[in-house]
Amino acid sequence: MNTIIEDMRSGVDEEGIARAGDILKHGGLVAFPTETVYGLGADALDAQAAARIYAAKGRPSDNPLIVHIADWDALDYIVEEIPEEARLLADAFWPGPLTMIFKKSEVVPLATTGGLQTVAVRMPVNEVARAMIRAGGGYIAAPSANTSGRPSPTKASHVMDDMDGIIEMIIDGGDVEIGLESTIVDLTEDTPMILRPGYINEEMLEKVVGSVKIDPAVSGADTKARPKAPGMRYRHYAPRADLIIVEGAQEAVREKINELVQEAAACGKVPGIIGTDESRDLYQGGLVKSIGSRADELTIAQHLYSILREFDDSDISVIYSESFETPNMGLAIMNRLIKAAGHQIIKV
Ligand code: TXA
Ligand code: MG
Repeated sequence: MNTIIEDMRSGVDEEGIARAGDILKHGGLVAFPTETVYGLGADALDAQAAARIYAAKGRPSDNPLIVHIADWDALDYIVEEIPEEARLLADAFWPGPLTMIFKKSEVVPLATTGGLQTVAVRMPVNEVARAMIRAGGGYIAAPSANTSGRPSPTKASHVMDDMDGIIEMIIDGGDVEIGLESTIVDLTEDTPMILRPGYINEEMLEKVVGSVKIDPAVSGADTKARPKAPGMRYRHYAPRADLIIVEGAQEAVREKINELVQEAAACGKVPGIIGTDESRDLYQGGLVKSIGSRADELTIAQHLYSILREFDDSDISVIYSESFETPNMGLAIMNRLIKAAGHQIIKV
């Protein structure tokens, strides 16, 4: 298949959006930018189109998809009821990087929800995404647009690496703003529960709906806890190299990493390091990549997945990473990093 690339880096192109809408309405697949990560879209109300998403990604069919809408009025049709908390959270955070879980209505096929009676819904803020959703019929199922088991794509070139020749179209909207997938909140129980941490954190949610719980599996502290979001159960991404997180006071972490790098090099390994703008010059060996600045934690979130992809394209066989318990997005960043490291953490 020849994958069409539509360039919308400088904004919505109506003709390109019409072509995307046409593909979606005929059961095809279009990858598109959102503020979190690139999504792989198909008509959420068409079971066959949803099935194509699973095939293109190599995704287990019990891992449900998020349905993307562009307008609040679209919600009613796909859910059984809209709890009061959902109205409040939508007022505060939609459009934006928040996904909410509802009881699904009959129109949503089980192929889209991975067999569940609930449906995850998100309204992205990205204008290209919203124009495409409307053109595609208003309900677009979209997981992250990576091959299952690879890091989520944060730029169009990542999508091309994984999906070229497999899907009908890729819309290039430039680099994403946030770089980590949306926060998922389950509203089907008495107290709202965070199933996946993201840019919208616990404190922001609590300001709107009072008490919020966090799925105990999220922090990574308890490796036996079973996450409630099916997708969070999979080892999302394992880099080709062994990834080890070093956690502790920043200076002690640097010393430990320097020591580990020397040891690894002595055994003939090629070590890599994930540091920051502040620390990168303080390492004495190894291939150092800066993930961003501790003074601006969003830069750390933005670069996490692309840095992991870059290491996969290099000969590095072991990677030592600083840990990033930053004030607002720390839980989300560390949730992804700890999974990528397969829970290998050295505390100093
Ligand atoms: O930011 C995002 O949410 C991106 C962009 C494209 O919007 N999408 C995304 O989709 O991250 P995906 O498929 O990579 O992750 C969806 C997550 C999975 O962990 C899945 O198990 C969970 O949402 N999920 C979906 N529906 C669910 C449901 N009904 N109940 C519990 N978890 C659900
Ligand atoms: Mg994903």
